[in-house]
Amino acid sequence: MKGNFDHFMKKEIHEQPDAIQQTMRGRVVFDADGNVQRVFLGGMVDYLSTIRRSRRIILCGCGTSYNSAIAVRQLMEELTELPVTLELASDVLDRQCPFFRDDSIIFISQSGETADTLRALEYAKSKGALCIGIVNVVGSAISRATDCGLHINAGAEIGVASTKAYTCQITSMVLLALALSEDSRSRADRRMDIMRGVVTLPDTMRRALELDQKMLALARTLVDENSLLLFGRGYNYATALEGALKVKEVALLHSEGILAGEMKHGPLALVDETLPLVVIATRDSSYLKQKSVIEQLRARDARCILIVSEDDDSLDKFASNEDMIIKVPEVCDCLQPLINIVPLQLLSYHLTVLRGHNVDQPRNLAKSVTVE
Ligand code: UD1
Ligand code: F6R
Repeated sequence: MKGNFDHFMKKEIHEQPDAIQQTMRGRVVFDADGNVQRVFLGGMVDYLSTIRRSRRIILCGCGTSYNSAIAVRQLMEELTELPVTLELASDVLDRQCPFFRDDSIIFISQSGETADTLRALEYAKSKGALCIGIVNVVGSAISRATDCGLHINAGAEIGVASTKAYTCQITSMVLLALALSEDSRSRADRRMDIMRGVVTLPDTMRRALELDQKMLALARTLVDENSLLLFGRGYNYATALEGALKVKEVALLHSEGILAGEMKHGPLALVDETLPLVVIATRDSSYLKQKSVIEQLRARDARCILIVSEDDDSLDKFASNEDMIIKVPEVCDCLQPLINIVPLQLLSYHLTVLRGHNVDQPRNLAKSVTVE
């Protein structure tokens, strides 16, 4: 079952190019010349106009599935021009969130069985909202209970730490955002750019996976650390959160993802010359701001590990040594989180093996959390 891999987590990280291909299969439509034309979501066609007319879109899930919501929020807002808000499923129930008949609520779950997400879905249905599922497991409770949805078709995910489901969830929601904006002429060029980026994702991700040995070398330098902070913003705030979640849940190393814009509002006090920090600074509209964050961190002699675009040499001087600069292939800005998470998944995997912890069954965790 694990093939040539020692652990399911490693296998599933490396399966991502094929898994994303499966997510796209039959949904990205090409013309006779092989050029990408449009997105077609069979299970959603009857519901797209209702979603477009809704008062807002709410994205709801737990853990990694919630992080995938953070990753697509900005694009969903841009393409739909609707307010898009995020809800952690357990908090929906604790707060008895105000949900309305004209809300469209997207429930994201790999297993489709997570108790908090399922209860939040039942609650949303009782309020009359349109409920949409982004689910991996066909026939699961959330897939059955939603009005419509998209199976992400990532294939079985066995490792407790979610990896390929995360990138396939993001891909599915990017496709949904594209389908929702199909009527908008003013967004046609932007949509086309994104669709062209989507079809290149499997190849781009294969290139990102070539960072495996580089991430092993980096893990060796971090193996005895007690803490790791990750700074991201914009499209890559989710990357910082998801990278930190992977490091803490499998490598059992304290880690926090931080919105870089919040750095001066507290986290900067932790920064010294010993604490390792990861800063995500690939090229997008946040790039100059991230560059300034890096300069401020280096002014305090921080140990900066930088994730940058592959042809960007201008930040090399800020990394303490060549192990600390990670160059990733570039894609369309809103798709970059799909690529940037790959080195962080590999880092958490290698850290776990080097620290001697159980990779596929982390202490105290279950793959499917079926109790609240
Ligand atoms: C469907 C078939 C797929 C086939 C394709 C051919 C299934 C499960 N999928 O895929 O095997 O290759 O047609 O056109 O039979 N749904 C929910 N909630 C969810 C997820 C999905 O209600 O969380 C609903 C959808 O609205 C849809 C149905 O389940 O009605 C199947 O969804 P999905 O597999 O994503 O649809 P297709 O991609 O059309
Ligand atoms: C992290 C992880 C968990 C799950 C969360 C939701 O790697 O696996 O945080 O993402 O328990 O699970 P699903 O997606 O099955 O609802």
